[in-house]
Amino acid sequence: MNVIRFTDLIAQGKVAGQRVFIRADLNVPQDDAGQITEDTRIRASIPCIEQALKAGAAVMVTSHLGRPTEGEFKPEDSLAPVAKRMGELMGREVKLVANWVDGVAVAPGELVLLENCRVNKGEKKNNEELAKKMAALCDIFVNDAFGTAHRAEGTTYGIAQFAKIACAGPLLAAEIDAISKALSAPKRPLVAIVAGSKVSTKLTILKALSEKVDGLIVGGGIANTFMLAAGLKIGKSLAEPDLVAEAQAVIDAMKARGAAVPIPVDVVVAKRFAADAEATVKDAADVAEDDLILDIGPKTAALLAEQLKAAGTIVWNGPVGVFEFDAFAHGTETIARAIAASSAFSIAGGGDTLAAIAKYGIEKDVGYISTGGGAFLEILEGKTLPAFEILSRRAQDAQAS
Ligand code: 3PG
Repeated sequence: MNVIRFTDLIAQGKVAGQRVFIRADLNVPQDDAGQITEDTRIRASIPCIEQALKAGAAVMVTSHLGRPTEGEFKPEDSLAPVAKRMGELMGREVKLVANWVDGVAVAPGELVLLENCRVNKGEKKNNEELAKKMAALCDIFVNDAFGTAHRAEGTTYGIAQFAKIACAGPLLAAEIDAISKALSAPKRPLVAIVAGSKVSTKLTILKALSEKVDGLIVGGGIANTFMLAAGLKIGKSLAEPDLVAEAQAVIDAMKARGAAVPIPVDVVVAKRFAADAEATVKDAADVAEDDLILDIGPKTAALLAEQLKAAGTIVWNGPVGVFEFDAFAHGTETIARAIAASSAFSIAGGGDTLAAIAKYGIEKDVGYISTGGGAFLEILEGKTLPAFEILSRRAQDAQAS
C-alpha cells in the first residue's frame, strides 16, 4: 500500500521544528481501580514518539480510552494512568493536556499527551469542523493507531483529510507491511487458522479466506459446526446448527479451488465445562450424546502441525481449544509450537491468540504480532480500513501535486 511514511519524512529532514500530531492507540485494559493490566499498546506506540522527539518536533499524542460519552468527561475516561505509564517507560515526564481542540502549547523537543479524544464532541461521527480544528493544530499528522484503523473517526480519518501532511507512523507501517506480506503476495502454501466460539462472528472472514488460502484450519465452536457439516455427531458441544449450510459452502468453495478445510479426526471431550473435568480422547466418529468437545485430539493436532510446518505463510486468529484449562490446551499448544518451528512467515492477531502466544512464550518465533483486535479481523474479512484508505489517498494526492 502506498502511504507517506513518517520515517521517510524524518530521513528527508522534514520533521525538525514541525508540530507533529500523533494518533496512537493507547486503549489499554484497566482493572476496577484504574490500574493498567496490560501495556503492550503503550510500549508499541513509544518508538514513533521517540523518533518524532529525536527529529526535533513539537509532539502531541492522543488516543481514545474506552467508549466515553462525548462532551461528558468522567475521571475514568482520563488518559492520566497512560501518561504515568508512558512517562515511566520513556524516563521522562509526560504532561497531560485537557480541552485541547482550540490550541496546544508545545515547543520543539517537548511532548504532551492530549486527553481522551473520544470525549470531544463530533469525534465518533467524524465531524468536519472538529477535524479541521485538529488538523490546524499540526504541520504533520501521523496515524500510528492500527488498533483503531477500522474506525472512521475525527482523529483517525477527518484530521488526515485536512492536515497539511498525513502519514503512517512506524507501527501502522509495520502492520501494513506484515499484512501485505501475508495476504497480498503470500509465499504459498498460505494456511489460515480461524478459531473461536461462533461461526456467525467469523463467517465473513471464513468466506473471504476461502477464496485465497490453501488450507483453512478451523477450531473451537467453529470446528464443531464444520464437523456437523461433515456429518459427524458433536454431542452437547457448542455449535450453530443453523449455520451448517454456510460451513458447507466454505468447504465447497475450498474444494472447488483444490484446497481443503481439515475436519478433526479425533477430539478431546469432557462431560462438563470445567478446568478439573476429566479429559477423554476420542475418534471424531465416537463422540457421545453427552460429550462436550473442548479441544482437537492428538492425531488431528499432529496432522495440522505437519501442515503448518510445510506452509509458506500462516495467518493465525483464535485458539483451537479451551487452552485456559490445561487438560484441553494440548491442541493450541501444538499449533503454537508448530507455528514457532515453521519457517513460514506468520502473522497473528486477536486477544485470545495473543494470550496463547504469551502462555507458550513463542513471541519471538511469530513473524508479526498485530496490535489490532477488531482492525485485524476486518483486514481478514478483506475490507479496506478507513485509516489506510485516507492515508493512501493523501499519498496519491501528494504524488500528483
Ligand atoms: C480496540 O481495543 O480494539 C481498539 O482500541 C478500538 O476500540 P473501539 O472498538 O472502542 O473502537
